[in-house]
Amino acid sequence: MHLRIHEISKAWGGHTVLDRVSFAANEDEFICLLGPSGCGKTTLLRIVAGLTAPDAGRITLGDRDITSLPARDRRMGLVFQTYSLFPDMTAAANVGYPMRLRRDAAATIAARASDLLERVGLGGLGARFPDELSGGQQQRVALARALATEPAMLLLDEPLSALDPAIRGQLRSEIRVLQRALGIPTIMVTHDQEEALAMADTIVCMNQGRIEQTGTPRDLYERPRTRFVAEFVGRANLLPTAFVRETLPGFLERRPPGSESTFELCLRPEDVVIRSDARGEAVVEESVFLGNLARVTLAWRGRKLLAELPGNSALARGEPVSVDALRGAWVCS
Ligand SMILES: Nc1ncnc2c1ncn2[C@@H]1O[C@H](COP(=O)(O)OP(=O)(O)OP(=O)(O)O)[C@@H](O)[C@H]1O
Ligand SMILES: [Mg+2]
Repeated sequence: MHLRIHEISKAWGGHTVLDRVSFAANEDEFICLLGPSGCGKTTLLRIVAGLTAPDAGRITLGDRDITSLPARDRRMGLVFQTYSLFPDMTAAANVGYPMRLRRDAAATIAARASDLLERVGLGGLGARFPDELSGGQQQRVALARALATEPAMLLLDEPLSALDPAIRGQLRSEIRVLQRALGIPTIMVTHDQEEALAMADTIVCMNQGRIEQTGTPRDLYERPRTRFVAEFVGRANLLPTAFVRETLPGFLERRPPGSESTFELCLRPEDVVIRSDARGEAVVEESVFLGNLARVTLAWRGRKLLAELPGNSALARGEPVSVDALRGAWVCS
């Protein structure tokens, strides 16, 4: 393991912000810290960077304990949400800045800055000042600058959230391509589940200072362990055990041991199967056409159920249907 975060805790003014958080990152892994606003993502990233001191816990990089190592000695490349470029320096000078700090030779700096700008798709724009670059271009410069000193890790705090959706999507894949090419372990903070699903090898899903679940995007989507993860990653129908017993008894067999009220069945909308059926127990309440799919709300024995069907399925409001499910996951409520 490259980076190991062990039982990190932090409180601000008596309020616990991180509660014994642990996870590890491999040599070439791309990790997304995913969670709602205020759950402690930035605080955790700053602790890894050495910009904030934890109250308890340890961080190791390779076989070295870096818990109390100053930020400048940690070799972390940082990119933040808002453009943090020096406004009075050109793009090339911004990228060269960390190399100047460590007194590299001017010719080396110029060559490497130009190479890095090329790598992030800004070849030829080195002489531009930040206010002559778009938001997406500025974030590329920030990324190049973070990579300038060959950091041991890349730490990205919502680097794409200020950009418009088209640029965002493009930069997502460019960042992944670059990260793979350089083989640099990366932690990226985001509160956007789609971004985390699209980019991460591993998602660390946080809620109120604790880790709810760590796993691949597929793990979190197909096998969420808690109600929070089920609802935060993708869309979820959550059905109480008593309701499942009445409606989808086949799923009861795989229910984990424990009291009824502890578990709910999570059905993803695309796993809900509906059939036109005059004697069906559910009724189509609403059907929204979204091109490639139709998002259908059903009223089913006093509950609402969300289903997603191919866009060309025609279902009229008020139509009676029967309901079944392809698969489901039991989650802790
Ligand atoms: N320097 C600080 N002093 C006091 N409280 C702080 C400080 N930094 C963060 N907090 C508090 O810690 C909690 C977690 O903040 P943090 O910035 O880590 O959240 P976040 O998950 O990054 O949220 P967001 O998605 O909004 O950026 C918040 O309640 C915040 O107000
Ligand atoms: Mg934050």
